[in-house]
Formats: sequence, structure tokens, C-alpha cells
Amino acid sequence: MNRFKAPADAADWSRRDFMRNGSYSLALVCTFASTNSLKGDSITTSAARRSQAAKPFAPFAVDLPIPPALVPTSSTKTTDTFDVDIQEGMAEILPGFQTPIYGYQGVYPGPTIYARKGRKTIVRQKNRLDFDSNVHLHGGYVPAAHDGHPMDVIQPGKGFDYNYPNKQDAAFLWYHDHAHGRTAKTLYYGLAGMYLLGDEREEELGLPTGEYDIPILLADHAFNKDGSFRYVENVDLGFRGDTILANGAVSPRLSVERRIYRVRFLNASNARSYNLKLGNGRSMLQIASDGGLLERPVSRTTSLLHPAERQEFLLDFRSFKPGSEIVLQNADGESAGTKSIMRFDVVNGGGSEEARIPTGRMRTIAKLPAPNASRRWDLSLATSSGVQWRIADRGYDPDRIDVRPRLGSSELWQWHNPSNRVHPMHLHGMLFRIVERSTGVVHPADRGWKDTIGVLPGETATVQPWFTPYTGRYVFHCHALEHGDKAMMLNLEVER
Ligand code: C2O
Ligand code: CU
Ligand code: CU
Repeated sequence: MNRFKAPADAADWSRRDFMRNGSYSLALVCTFASTNSLKGDSITTSAARRSQAAKPFAPFAVDLPIPPALVPTSSTKTTDTFDVDIQEGMAEILPGFQTPIYGYQGVYPGPTIYARKGRKTIVRQKNRLDFDSNVHLHGGYVPAAHDGHPMDVIQPGKGFDYNYPNKQDAAFLWYHDHAHGRTAKTLYYGLAGMYLLGDEREEELGLPTGEYDIPILLADHAFNKDGSFRYVENVDLGFRGDTILANGAVSPRLSVERRIYRVRFLNASNARSYNLKLGNGRSMLQIASDGGLLERPVSRTTSLLHPAERQEFLLDFRSFKPGSEIVLQNADGESAGTKSIMRFDVVNGGGSEEARIPTGRMRTIAKLPAPNASRRWDLSLATSSGVQWRIADRGYDPDRIDVRPRLGSSELWQWHNPSNRVHPMHLHGMLFRIVERSTGVVHPADRGWKDTIGVLPGETATVQPWFTPYTGRYVFHCHALEHGDKAMMLNLEVER
């Protein structure tokens, strides 16, 4: 792995990007069907307009894609080894259109990696793009050299073998590009995948598995006339698309039997938060968050999911009649296209349920050591040298270590957000607990292990990170990708 080279500047990027998209562009179709050919809710997104050009667009007409599971190249008693190419690809997202992407193995979302606590994973990543890339395992306890630090990049044509020890409890992790200064574009164009780490404890609980365990990556997008992704940079607000994709599909449906499902959501959007809500107002039973299982399940009817956060629910379809259709909404969507996420269609089947709904304690969450320092981090916008975000008045400097906690210690970190944006603040390689929020009590579902917290406009949120299990250099940053790129990120070095 090599030290980071100067990033291509923005103009360079957009030129290349434009050329790339342009070279694939299909014949432009400029006559769109009138909106009354839409079934149900009229969804006036760029996706709807684009795909009407090909055929009538109907929401809930395609099945929810499940990203393919990555198959190990080899497996030994202790280790699974995978090979991945980081490359360009094409995805059929809108019916009849090919969307150019960057993808792990050329697919979007990337293939899902299944891992198991106590077994090592090695992912041999090869960079087949013509610019620097790297891979960060978000939420993982990973030695610093394998974390995918923004300055540790893989040059074009080179590779790096990422070693993941998987010495942590079951959790829904994800992997994504992290080369500094361009993650807003590389993630938007597809460099993100899911990493499901399982363990024995989960099995003891008898949670739904296999086809009843559904991972869903959410991201908002917009489209050009040729079906390519449209990206417009807005460093203050972050990117907002008019179309929500669930596992790379627009308003898909999932046929469900009358059983219990484990449904796991990852918000892989650049900057959009979702307020998840079932159309009939039914309760969803949250069982896990970023760092794995909660101590006890928490029933809720709405749930805010900020960029990079994960939430897992048990959805119980046993009492629904076949033919029932339950829409999953984003209650905070500002338009039809950003309100409906997907639909669950109840079909026959089920009956002999093997899964159980946990009623008691699922897990005991270890007590943190008493904090031995307090720090306050102000989150602010600076406009003196273009629009830039700051943490404690600093922009990212790769050569400066901003904080040096001791291995095994913990501290109280206060995020103070006087801005009018949500800042999903994320810490690499370690986990934290949420201690206090100025906006109200800490929701029971936010009391487990976290690696990202959406700090709301006007809010002061206090978290307690635990600087374990590895020494070395990591970063913490805002996961609104435009904010992190420009330059809302600091270095942290855990010392012995
Ligand atoms: Cu998803 Cu720096 O992380
Ligand atoms: Cu991370
Ligand atoms: Cu931010």
C-alpha cells in the first residue's frame, strides 16, 4: 500500500466522469409518457421519467434484488480468503437502461461477505480502476494497517490483502471505498457492499436465517436521460437524490411468507437520513444497531436511520392475510419518490415457523471503563476557502494527529452541532455508547454499541468511545460524504 498521491482535482474528476458516462450513453429518448401511465402513487422521480422512456414505470413491479454472496477462493480451518476486483461495471437499475457504475466485482451493491466470529477473513482487493482506491471495513475491529485509512490507498493496477480478525460479536458491518477527498463520488457510483458477521449467540436466539434474513442497502440517487447516475456536488447540504434505491432497485417489492423476517437496513446514502415507517403504522421490533444485538428488543413504529447507520428489525407477517401489501415508507421524504422505499407483499406459505421472537435479554453489553478525559468537538461550516466543514475549527490534515488516547481507556466526547445539518459522526476501528443528548432521552434502541451517531441540528450529543482493541492510527469523521471529503475528519492515534 502506498501513501496517498494528490487527488485528481474536481474538474478533472467531472471531466473523466462525464466522458465515462458519455461514452456509454444510449440514444436519448426525449419524449416521456405522461404521468398518468404511472400506477398507484405517481412517482415523479428522474428514475420514473427515465424509465417511462423505455416502458411504463410502475412502482413495486420488480423484486428486491439480494446482492450475491461472495464465494471464498479458498477456505482453511481458520480462514476464508476472498478475491475482489474493484472495477467498472454496468447495472440495470432502470428497466431497459444500463447504468455505468464502479463496483466490487463490477456489481452494485457489492457482493455480500459472510463472516463468522472466530474465523479470519482475508479479502484480496485488486484495484482495476484508473485512480487510487482502498477499502474500509466500517464497524469492524480491524488492526490499523487493514482499516482502509483514507491515506492508505491502493494504486491502479495494485492490490492489497485486507485481514479481518472477526474477533467481535455478530454485527452488520459494511465495506466501502475511503480514498480521501472523493468518497462522495466513489460510494455514489457504487463502491459499497455489506459484510454480515455472525456468531453463536445469534444462533442460540433462533433468529430468522437464510431466505428469511434480508440485508438491504439504501441509497438515494438521481438519473440522467441516458440512465446514468446524476451527481451534483453540494458540500453544504450533501447530495440529495430524488429516487431511493433498495439494493439497487427503485421501489422494489419483496414477497414474504406469513413468517418472521429479519430485515437489516444499512443507510449507504451520501447525506440523506431516512425515517423508516411501515405503511400501516405497524410496529417493528428492533433487535440490533451498528455494533450488533441490543440488550433487549425494542418495539418502535418509526426509526431514524442516518448515513452509515445500521438497524435490524424482526418483522412479523404471521397475522397478515395473503395478498396484503405493506409499504415501507420514508416518513421524512419530501416527494413521492423519496417517500416510498419498498413493499412487502404477503403470499401464502409459512405456518411451521422455526424462528423465535426473543423476549428476554439477547446480550449483555459490557460496562465501559470510567472516562479519563472529556473533549468537546464543535461542528461548523467555514467559508473562507470555499465551502468546508470543520471539527473543532480544524479541517483534515493527514500529517497531524488530533487526539492520542491510551489503549483500553475511554473518554467522554461531546459533539456540539450549532449548524443546521445532521452530522453522522463516525469513529473507525472502535465502538462507543451514547451517553446523553440535549434533544431528549437516549432512545432505548440507541443504547447498544454504536459506531455512528446522527448529531441533529442544534444538538449536543455526548458519546463514550472505548479505545480498544488495537493501537494505531485511525480517523473519525462526518459520514455525510461531502462533509467528510471537505474536510470534516480528524486523525486519532491509539497509544499503548
Ligand atoms: Cu463508513 Cu470512515 O467510514
Ligand atoms: Cu468506518
Ligand atoms: Cu457533516
